[in-house]
Amino acid sequence: MNFLMNSTTATSLVNLPSFYATTIEEWRSAPEDRGSNEIQVRPIQPDDFEREREFVERLSPRTAYQRLMSARKPSTEELMRWTHIDRSHEGAVVATVVIDGREQQVGVARYVVEDTQGEADFAIVIADEWQGSGLGIRLLSALIDLARQSGIKQLSGSTLSDNRGMLALARRLGFSLSKEAGAAIVTNLRLTLES
Ligand SMILES: CC(C)(COP(=O)(O)OP(=O)(O)OC[C@H]1O[C@@H](n2cnc3c(N)ncnc32)[C@H](O)[C@@H]1OP(=O)(O)O)[C@@H](O)C(=O)NCCC(=O)NCCS
Repeated sequence: MNFLMNSTTATSLVNLPSFYATTIEEWRSAPEDRGSNEIQVRPIQPDDFEREREFVERLSPRTAYQRLMSARKPSTEELMRWTHIDRSHEGAVVATVVIDGREQQVGVARYVVEDTQGEADFAIVIADEWQGSGLGIRLLSALIDLARQSGIKQLSGSTLSDNRGMLALARRLGFSLSKEAGAAIVTNLRLTLES
């Protein structure tokens, strides 16, 4: 089992308790290790559909825009696709907490393999009230672990060039950053994964 607080990427995080699993098997096999008031980081499951819908609906317009680079609202079909993933070419991890006795989603990071060379596109979003508390580092580190375990060779993504949080998070985890040719408002992020 991985406990992210012990990983080298997480040494200066705020000291929130957490449980961390990158496989469903790991998640299911260790209920006794999971505290009820902890941040749980685990692979997404089909029954996360309603949690994901609520999470997306509660995002501020700014956060939703930074994630999708547009003001549109995701459709029910997209929410279905995002929670019923095909593990042969996709991976996704969610962060949840139990609030008022209900498990609620506070972040999600995902990748989709785009070619046969083992390159995948990734994206991440953290609930507004949790941004800046170290959760982005935890969740993206978990996604990187999952991608590495799944044989992904490279993670790529893009962000608006004024998204200081995402640029700082990407730098912190070792991504290389480059402005999109001909569209400097977009910055491309790339991380090569060694196995
Ligand atoms: C971008 C995002 C994922 C970062 O996650 P987060 O939980 O807020 O970030 P963390 O608290 O883990 O901090 C990560 C690093 O970014 C820095 N950071 C976070 N927000 C920042 C901000 N607004 N300005 C400057 N630096 C910031 C932190 O200081 C930290 O760097 P450090 O470890 O060197 O100090 C989150 O803010 C978010 O969901 N934004 C909206 C959606 C989005 O932009 N997604 C990216 C497009 S794919």
